[in-house]
Amino acid sequence: MDALKEKIDTLRRERNAVILAHYYTDSDVQDIADFVGDSLALSQQAATTDADVILFAGVHFMGETAKILSPRKTVLMPDMAAGCSLADSCPADAFAAFIAANPGRTVISYVNTTAEVKALTDIVCTSSNAVEIVRSLPPDEPILFGPDRNLGNYIRNITGRENMLVWDGACHVHEEFSLEKILDLKQAYPHAKVLTHPECKRPIVLISDYVGSTAGLLKYAVNDTSTDTYIVVTEPGVLHQMRLAAPGKTFIPAPPSDPSCGCNNCSYMKLVTLPKIAAALETLQPEILIPEEVRRRAEGSIRRMLEISARLGLV
Ligand code: 13P
Ligand code: SF4
Repeated sequence: MDALKEKIDTLRRERNAVILAHYYTDSDVQDIADFVGDSLALSQQAATTDADVILFAGVHFMGETAKILSPRKTVLMPDMAAGCSLADSCPADAFAAFIAANPGRTVISYVNTTAEVKALTDIVCTSSNAVEIVRSLPPDEPILFGPDRNLGNYIRNITGRENMLVWDGACHVHEEFSLEKILDLKQAYPHAKVLTHPECKRPIVLISDYVGSTAGLLKYAVNDTSTDTYIVVTEPGVLHQMRLAAPGKTFIPAPPSDPSCGCNNCSYMKLVTLPKIAAALETLQPEILIPEEVRRRAEGSIRRMLEISARLGLV
């Protein structure tokens, strides 16, 4: 083991810290984590861990969610600049105005939002449970969904909920995938299946064999026996766990419209590095802090998601 990994291990023990990593982080980060998962599994881990310190190898809203659920724990981010274009597409004041202009609706927000937006929300969801959370409400319930237009429209189409307003936000990474290039890949690999994250645009969703969260895509890729080749339409960090879990299969990352831009990589997730993880554990900085009033209101909407998910067995 090299010196940096040894240092992280020593600090992790000394601090009684747990390292939680999202599938989109670099593979060396995933390899040293105590737990690697999707947004739902990571929030479930953050809610139940016994550690004193949570180091979140992911983006800012994920660290905030951990702090909201475990306010007495120290929650560290390796790099505070690790944001999210989707969360940025939904400023809390504008979302509050949207809610005020459309009263009487149950507000469902994707977890990719700031703590302030979660504080305005009735139920949080992730891509793992969004469809089930909407289905858990009465069929005629008026819904306001934010901030991802692609996920929102996907849910509306799957559930047939007409009375669902959707905020016009998006993730810059998932909107970059090229339908044309995926169709070219399908021609080159006719037996390949297309696995897609629901943050992608509808034409790509329509030509996909399976649509789901990162954890859903991984599970499908590992368990499916109908083929051995998959075109994966999400941030390519997830291919690391796919290749570890199914070494005999071939996973092809879907390309963006402009292959030279590298813009199907989440540049925010890639800000998380081993040296920054070591530094954060050493200095216990930078730390996520949230005003208690915001945290308390945001906690209600996340707890509602966790309760519904537990009731439906979505772990
Ligand atoms: P998951 O819910 O699949 O973890 O996705 C989170 C995310 O940021 C997708 O861009
Ligand atoms: Fe946010 Fe998109 Fe990165 Fe996911 S991939 S963290 S939605 S910017």
